Amino acid sequence: MSETKTPKAPDRVLIFDTTLRDGEQSPGASMNIAEKLEVARGLAALGVDIIEAGFPIASVGDFEAVRAIAAEVAGASVCGLARCNDRDIDRAWEAVQYAQKPRIHVFLATSAIHREHKLRMSKDQIIERAVASVRRAASLCPDVEFSPEDAARTEIDFLCEVVAAAIDAGATTVNIPDTVGYATPDQYAAVIRTLFARVPNIGRAVVSTHCHDDLGLATANSLAGCEAGARQVECTINGIGERAGNAALEEVVMALKTRFDHYHLTTGIKTERLYPISRLLTSLTGLAIQRNKAIVGRNAFAHEAGIHQDGMLKERSTYEIMRPEDVGVPRTDLVLGKHSGRHALKDRVVELGHNLTDEQIEALFLDFKTLADKKKEVYDDDLVVLIEKYLEDAPAHWVLLGLHTTAGLSVIPTATVSIRRPDGETVQDAAIGDGPVDAIFKAVERVTGVRANLREFVVRSVTQGKDAQGEVTLELEVESGDRSFRGRAASTDIIEASAQAYLNAVNAIAAHEARGHVREVLGRPGAGA
Ligand code: KIV
Ligand code: ZN
Repeated sequence: MSETKTPKAPDRVLIFDTTLRDGEQSPGASMNIAEKLEVARGLAALGVDIIEAGFPIASVGDFEAVRAIAAEVAGASVCGLARCNDRDIDRAWEAVQYAQKPRIHVFLATSAIHREHKLRMSKDQIIERAVASVRRAASLCPDVEFSPEDAARTEIDFLCEVVAAAIDAGATTVNIPDTVGYATPDQYAAVIRTLFARVPNIGRAVVSTHCHDDLGLATANSLAGCEAGARQVECTINGIGERAGNAALEEVVMALKTRFDHYHLTTGIKTERLYPISRLLTSLTGLAIQRNKAIVGRNAFAHEAGIHQDGMLKERSTYEIMRPEDVGVPRTDLVLGKHSGRHALKDRVVELGHNLTDEQIEALFLDFKTLADKKKEVYDDDLVVLIEKYLEDAPAHWVLLGLHTTAGLSVIPTATVSIRRPDGETVQDAAIGDGPVDAIFKAVERVTGVRANLREFVVRSVTQGKDAQGEVTLELEVESGDRSFRGRAASTDIIEASAQAYLNAVNAIAAHEARGHVREVLGRPGAGA
């Protein structure tokens, strides 16, 4: 009798999303608490297994965001990052303790370069510190992850020793960061394979990848890690993160799904939610992705060449390895017009990955009608900029009530602004500048007294057409120079959008100061770890 073998169930890879930690700490990606919560809800709906919500010791704001996410977001584990010291670990626990599934992630650099130049610690001291910290974290939290920072450049014998000691001390996940994006896929896979071969207790922990994209290899390295036995991948939406970024979640997940025949690995990701969350992140941070970005770029499913279009019409699989609907790309982005109703609006908001209350939908509906009166066609991108205003976490301190500018050839550009102050009084002031926008910024500075340097100013058309809204994104750096704040606004009048965006950034500075946030000068995680 021939033996029938039941096929082995494919292994599941855990998706650890670090958009709100490694991603958020990169320049230009900072988000306020309400925005982080919105992203965390989106990540939970996407089906990620672990959300790394932040680095609680870094600032009061980071702590509050992690705590809010832990308290509210269900389904996924919520993780807080900590360096290997008691203060960091206790603070991380304080932030994540009320999560359904809390996790503490401790890290300590292990490579010779970091040991000698940054930490000035011997190998023995590193092991001792890592063990003590994992033990402390494990005494507080049942789920502890340990990362030997710069693992990919660490001497392999020492890496095996540290990993074994961390698991013995109670680490349930060991993460192998390629912190500087230096490894090649073969090398990275060899490190993971060696850990499986030489670390006797490796079976007691999940092995994880954490790859940076300095050489454009983050996705390839993560996948190579999975082939070598890793069962957790650390990644971010749109690949945002330090320097060139982290492995892009959407790329790793779609590679595993599309090439299941090769990897035989699954994830718990609802792939049709990939595009909405990518859009959500872009709209919240203002960090645009390139048009040809894999999976979620605007051109990812566009077929321009005649020969390709012809092939597609005959048989989609000629040129399409994934269907746009599998990753949630809408069939058309022309949404609504002035006759569209509340239900159509609400459905579209949900499809775009946002959760608004009924009251917010009602207010959004009025804004939408006003815009639809100015523009014939309201596109997804138009809606996204309208929705953003409901994601603010604090009532605006300063409110723009009126604006008048004069500009042109042979005139001195001037701006007059009328602004409601936090105490309710309305103040007017005027200024001249190099142009109308400069004049507005100077007038706002005179009224609010908030002095900051303009580091970036970008105007882009939200959609196509002469009647499109112009979106202004700008970045202000406070004079102490250690922190910058973004402001965004859109309007069919770009002068008005510039004024509103500037005031939004000023309000972000005021809200930050009101919370008494003083960010410790930590640099990126790793500095002094
Ligand atoms: O890249 C890195 O090494 C990190 C660690 C904190 C895990 O982000
Ligand atoms: Zn990293």
